[in-house]
Amino acid sequence: MNRKNIGNNPLLKLYAPYITRINESLNTEMNSYTSSEFYESLLYSLDGGKRIRPLILVLSAECFGEADENAMSAACAVELLHTESIIHDDIIDDELLRRRKKPFHVKYGYDTSILSGDFVLGLILSISARLDNARITDNLAKTAILMSEGEMIEERLVAGGDATFDDYLKTIQYKTATAFEAAAKIGAIIGGGDERQIADITEYGRNMGIAYQIRDDLLDWKNEDKIFNMLVRKSTDPRDVFDKMEEMSKTYAGKARSALEEIPVGNAHSGLDGLIGFAVLKA
Ligand code: IPE
Ligand code: MG
Repeated sequence: MNRKNIGNNPLLKLYAPYITRINESLNTEMNSYTSSEFYESLLYSLDGGKRIRPLILVLSAECFGEADENAMSAACAVELLHTESIIHDDIIDDELLRRRKKPFHVKYGYDTSILSGDFVLGLILSISARLDNARITDNLAKTAILMSEGEMIEERLVAGGDATFDDYLKTIQYKTATAFEAAAKIGAIIGGGDERQIADITEYGRNMGIAYQIRDDLLDWKNEDKIFNMLVRKSTDPRDVFDKMEEMSKTYAGKARSALEEIPVGNAHSGLDGLIGFAVLKA
């Protein structure tokens, strides 16, 4: 991975050893495919991400045990799923910039973008086979299904020209929160949490994901013509929408924090708690 871009990662200050380990695992994963047609382009697309989802997975595992090889592989699967989703999302949204660089489709073209989706599906299946845990495979599968459903729901609502706050919440739960939820849950499963703890950490991930997407939309509303902008346009006073979004962001961050109450205290717990700060807008 390119060190220059990693330098822009706000999570690096607090989570550097974790992120280094995640990047090493991604490199190891990719090293099996050095002769692939997709090798160079996938390294490009992996470069510069904040790694928040794999970070959640690794920290969740460490709340209950150690983040072993399986946890690292699962973390790679989740990051790969996210990476492919943004390759496609950037096409849907006609993005011209991603992580201060050209989006994948601008650099490598539409054909490579489409085919990379099939390739990454194969990578994820291969990792999942190695993990040999049907519950984890099921979680990865459900996440891929719901993330694509979420993008389609958003497309349909945008094409129809109307949406409600409930539509917005459902869309972001599907397209964004499911990956955070799966990361947290899979980490807890691999780390050896009991069912109650797995449920709590899952709740943490889900609420984190919702708060994170609201924050992202609040930061980026000028550049995106999506559901959030439809809500702004149809309101009599846009300020009401922003206020409501800020309140929702705080509410979901609060829910994420409460979900951690019964999780054993320690570095990993503090790490998960600290990530909540990145999911809310700083005043
Ligand atoms: C961006 O996700 C897309 C959303 C779902 C908000 P990230 O903010 O995790 O993107 P990278 O991987 O760090 O660039
Ligand atoms: Mg988008």
